[in-house]
Amino acid sequence: MTLLVGALPSELRDRIGASRKRWLVTGAAGFIGSNLVEALLVLGQDVVGLDNFATGHQRNLDEVECLVGPEAWDRFRFIEGDVRNVGDCQRACADVHHVLHQAALGSVPRSIEDPLATHHANCTGHLNMLVAARDAGVESFTYAASSSTYGDHPGLPKVEDRIGNPLSPYAVTKYVNELYASVFARCYGLKTIGLRYFNVFGPRQDPNGAYAAVIPKWIASLIKGETVFINGDGETSRDFCYVANVVQANLLAATTRNPDALDQVYNVAVGDRTTLNELYAQLHMNLSPHYAHLKELKPVHREFRQGDVRHSLADISKARNQLGFAPAHRVAQGLELSMSWYRNQLA
Ligand SMILES: NC(=O)c1ccc[n+]([C@@H]2O[C@H](COP(=O)([O-])OP(=O)(O)OC[C@H]3O[C@@H](n4cnc5c(N)ncnc54)[C@H](O)[C@@H]3O)[C@@H](O)[C@H]2O)c1
Repeated sequence: MTLLVGALPSELRDRIGASRKRWLVTGAAGFIGSNLVEALLVLGQDVVGLDNFATGHQRNLDEVECLVGPEAWDRFRFIEGDVRNVGDCQRACADVHHVLHQAALGSVPRSIEDPLATHHANCTGHLNMLVAARDAGVESFTYAASSSTYGDHPGLPKVEDRIGNPLSPYAVTKYVNELYASVFARCYGLKTIGLRYFNVFGPRQDPNGAYAAVIPKWIASLIKGETVFINGDGETSRDFCYVANVVQANLLAATTRNPDALDQVYNVAVGDRTTLNELYAQLHMNLSPHYAHLKELKPVHREFRQGDVRHSLADISKARNQLGFAPAHRVAQGLELSMSWYRNQLA
């Protein structure tokens, strides 16, 4: 059993392991997708992965292969394909029981620079997947929604039915995902569940490139001795969520036996608030014993980033009550696991 699967509640492991089903993970070569593939293979499932490597990497799949071993890897079939192409979606959905749709172009700034690319991957791709899943008669369709849907709503903590205006094209696409999924539930009886992820982090999240997320980017910069830039005053806060919690939420959603849980969206987070200044301090403190150059390194504050919400903190009681979601990792523990993974990778 891998570390990731060991962290899942034993009841959930038993529930999944009790029968052998075929799962489709879109975005399988990405960060969250590859963690889902790993968990499902270890739990004895057949898995189809779909990805076009827009932001995902073969190295993520290679690492999963290494972790799960040859017997489990034999149950994995990879399709290099594009969710913008309905034919690829149909091919991937054939004989599938559960869909975990993760493929999308993430990042708020990317969507501000190129809204069309984000729209095509996130909206057209999502609609194609819904059509293909409906036509294939799948048992469940679970998809990656986003906390960006809360937009400018000032309420804290965030509760699912109180959203504001979107602050970026990316946020629009993720809200459109929810609207389409709900219409497919109503018009065609598709069993959909949306999971609004809040700033996920963990092993295999890409630290490179202009659109890298804050945690992998900062860990990599600290390890390499590069300047860390904090956007704004550093008091911007997030509800950072370790990826094992996200895997748990997906497996619970796909296999729920609670009819009231369907055609709903859920916050997936921990319910812990961390400011960027606190995050920096924690990473710096944990990495300092390993890298002498960190004694001298100070972060540099720069302007606030366009499209960013100021504070983000989730109320996770809906997921807890309806799905039985119980995040096993708090932020500090997740950061430790992530840092040791990046230290090995970047050594
Ligand atoms: N990481 C987070 O904090 C976070 C927060 C909220 C929502 N999400 C959502 O979770 C999902 C997974 O995100 P991630 O963090 O793993 O990002 P990621 O970039 O690591 O993974 C996304 C994967 O989708 C693939 N992809 C993109 N466009 C595609 C296309 N047209 N056809 C096929 N594959 C395509 C990419 O190649 C990549 O492997 C996304 O839908 C994202 O919007 C992530």
